[in-house]
Amino acid sequence: MSQADKKIIAELEELRERINHHNRLYYLLDKPEISDAEFDRLFDRLLAIEKAHPELVTPDSPSQRIGAPPSEKFQPVEHRVPMLSLQKVTSAEEFAQFDRRVREGLETENEIRYVTEPKLDGLAVELVYENGLFVLGSTRGDGRTGENITPNLRTIRNIPLKLSAETARKYPLLEVRGEVIIRKSAFEKLNQELAAAGKPTLANPRNAAAGSLRQLDSKITASRPLIFYAYGISDTNLDDLNSQQKVMALLKDEGFLINDRIDAVDGLTGVEQAFNRLVEDRPKLDYEIDGMVVKVDSFARQAVLGRISRAPRWAVAWKFPAEEAQTTVEAIEFSVGRTGVVTPVANLKAVRVSGVMVTHASLHNEDELNRLDARPGDTVTVRRAGDVIPEVVAVDLSRRPKNTQAVTFPSVCPSCGEPIERTEGEAAWRCMNTSCPAQLEGRLFHFASRGGFDIEGLGGKLARQLIDNKLVANPADLFFLTKEQLLPLDLMADKKAEKLLAGIDRSRGTSLPRVIYALGIPGVGETASAALADHFRSFESFQNSSVEELEQIDGIGSTIAGDIVAFFSHEPNRRMIERMKKRGVLFPDWKSSEKNGPLTGKQFVITGTLSRPRGHFKNRIVEMGGKVAGAVSSKTDYLLCGADAGSKLAKAEKLGVAVITEEEFEQMIRNAAG
Ligand code: IVH
Repeated sequence: MSQADKKIIAELEELRERINHHNRLYYLLDKPEISDAEFDRLFDRLLAIEKAHPELVTPDSPSQRIGAPPSEKFQPVEHRVPMLSLQKVTSAEEFAQFDRRVREGLETENEIRYVTEPKLDGLAVELVYENGLFVLGSTRGDGRTGENITPNLRTIRNIPLKLSAETARKYPLLEVRGEVIIRKSAFEKLNQELAAAGKPTLANPRNAAAGSLRQLDSKITASRPLIFYAYGISDTNLDDLNSQQKVMALLKDEGFLINDRIDAVDGLTGVEQAFNRLVEDRPKLDYEIDGMVVKVDSFARQAVLGRISRAPRWAVAWKFPAEEAQTTVEAIEFSVGRTGVVTPVANLKAVRVSGVMVTHASLHNEDELNRLDARPGDTVTVRRAGDVIPEVVAVDLSRRPKNTQAVTFPSVCPSCGEPIERTEGEAAWRCMNTSCPAQLEGRLFHFASRGGFDIEGLGGKLARQLIDNKLVANPADLFFLTKEQLLPLDLMADKKAEKLLAGIDRSRGTSLPRVIYALGIPGVGETASAALADHFRSFESFQNSSVEELEQIDGIGSTIAGDIVAFFSHEPNRRMIERMKKRGVLFPDWKSSEKNGPLTGKQFVITGTLSRPRGHFKNRIVEMGGKVAGAVSSKTDYLLCGADAGSKLAKAEKLGVAVITEEEFEQMIRNAAG
């Protein structure tokens, strides 16, 4: 090597070290020592040298953080040690039960040493370091197989690309796990920038983090303010690293960002106190958390406790109760759903509740409205639990302004003006006018929705236009629409009209459970329609069924049975079905095993919480020729598994049945459809 080369290498090394040092001060310690301009000068110098000497670029050079060329798709990565999920508790009592099980498992009466950590609400990832170099990064995926997102993770400034020589020697293979998040403040700023650039904004920090990380173009990832918090390693049998506390200390020394609210505490009381501290501090944190993770500190003890299915027995997520926030009511309106039920809705001054902007909240029904006595101008508490519609849970009477007016429930339908009725013993007021525009809109939307005829492009807005322009008075009219009728509508261009008509045309052959669901009979969701199709097999036998026969079917009670019979005895509904048949809607018989479907010969079992009812997935599997069984056996090919799965998952793992997530299921169908 020439003298000049040596000089260049030395300068490169020094530059990289200095840049890493300032990166650390900036991103990790929040204590920059040099100005941004000075930092940029260092960085530009590094880039210039590397450009002139591409052979000297190393994978751990800070220049590698700016993103790689876009890739086609992510490659699967099998985790050497599965990434587990966590059991949940939601109260001190439930946590006490967890603690008791731990002490029983360890055969001790003594207090257990736990480590408590905020449960960050972002995206779990694994970083693999070989001989101290960051070589591979992946998402959690289904816990066994994730996606290779190495170039994206490289762009995250606070992820060390290189570990100390000592650690590299001691632990030639180190797999670090943690959560990628976006801080709340950075999220607000990012959204402002996106909005200013005329781009769509992101719903909440978690979605923003997930979306930013899973970009095929890592340059986009590089432009997003992502940070990584480490919370563990994959192995629990490494020299000297025999507890969670020791692992965290090592990771901190190696320059990883470690949450500053991690505590080591003893026993039940220690954990409860830590939980209460976290609940109190939560509003002050600049990142979203949805609970506290409690881990048995000692790895030897973790090994004794082991795991059940995919969740360890030595850790638990103590989740926060549903989040609430206070805001003011701007107006109270009454909305009419597709079944005619009139629901009072509070229009709110926008408020963020567990990461989502809330502008409307339900007041449920007349009794609830009266009980709360919510009025425009009131300060109210709204609550969001999971994905359900937010609700008003309390009114702060001490903050009620003067001269507010109580809201009275209307006596006529706010959409069509017809009188509304309240059945004895029911809480709901209903508009009984079946041609009420609000109901029509809801019915049309439901008819065309994903679980029904699945007509692409027919959303709520278009449904309203079709009704307002008197083009459609009931779903059967959809099959009579022409391009000439569509073109004069708002925002309707040639292409869009053709696409919609093609979608309507395609939907004519849709399967029996979807037809049943699409009718919108009260109580008949996707799961009930699957059961009804399985039982009757043909639309005619379903249409001519009796309350007695219907009540025999699993999941169909007397109310639903009565509603089904009432639906078909209503003359306009029968006419609607006849008109659909005339226009080529097929109402095909339901054969549970199509001979030539992409899933023919495959048996599925469905378990856990999925994004839609199980019936939805069942219908789709059967449509494609597959079968769905109720229990896992050696005949099962796939377990479609959602969150919080229990014994079926354990059984599938025991039998070696392939376990797939919803995402993988969708992928499988896309592949099968070719
Ligand atoms: S430990 C067996 N620690 O929670 C241990 N997980 O259900 C499993 N999470 O998706 C993970 N903060 O990404 C652990 N301090 C923390 C965590 C944490 C958030 C997430 C994790 C995973 C989920 C586990």
